[in-house]
Amino acid sequence: MADNLFIKLFSRLPMARSTRAYAFILDRIDLPPDAVILDLGAGAGHGSTFLNQALPDARVIGLDIDYGPAMDKIPPEHRDGPNAPVYIQANAPEFPLADESLDAVMAMMTFHCLPQPQQVLNEAARVLRPDGALVIGDVNGEHWMGRPFEWVEHRFISPYTHAYTARELESMMAAAGLGGFTLLRRPGKEQGFMQWCVGYKAFPPINRGQSIPLTRDAEANRPVPGQ
Ligand SMILES: C[S@@+](CC[C@H](N)C(=O)[O-])C[C@H]1O[C@@H](n2cnc3c(N)ncnc32)[C@H](O)[C@@H]1O
Repeated sequence: MADNLFIKLFSRLPMARSTRAYAFILDRIDLPPDAVILDLGAGAGHGSTFLNQALPDARVIGLDIDYGPAMDKIPPEHRDGPNAPVYIQANAPEFPLADESLDAVMAMMTFHCLPQPQQVLNEAARVLRPDGALVIGDVNGEHWMGRPFEWVEHRFISPYTHAYTARELESMMAAAGLGGFTLLRRPGKEQGFMQWCVGYKAFPPINRGQSIPLTRDAEANRPVPGQ
């Protein structure tokens, strides 16, 4: 991502430093206390650090294309300490992580600007453990601000930006083999600009392109291993 003046100024705005998107979803999905979580597009590490503080026994991995060898994009308070997040430089959709090694992949305000979005979802499905969750917290492509947002992003930040609708994300997650699609918006802001889309890796893994109704609240729908 180009390190231009606009981005430097934008990164100083409170909204760019907000951890509210992480807090919202953490309250709504089940994660084991010692979860291994990938923060995809971790930026300066505000969200990764928040996740670690909220789940002190978790292991948080912050991944970003924009990390140099000195990791100086990340302030010391977000990378030092006994259980600080681990940061890795990588270019999504390449995740240098083992198959089925993560409990959650979180892409907060990141998915909209990634090239090869379907491959990113396929890669997320590969690294998730059975029952692991992919969370995309991002702008709502059906909101009237979606198109102006894309315009600004194309002009100043990323040529790849697309404000996805929930339906687009649902069908792309299904194509990656993720089921139990769940759409969340803030209570009272159901037509709001932020949305969180969640998909789960089923147990046992399901075939790509097949979607099954599996949610944390629908134990009855859970596929039985071996059947
Ligand atoms: C708007 S920031 C979001 C930062 C953080 N998730 C948050 O909510 O505060 C998007 C991040 O995605 C990263 N990014 C963009 N393209 C990427 C790619 N192909 N692979 C990995 N990270 C990427 C950018 O460098 C940037 O730090």
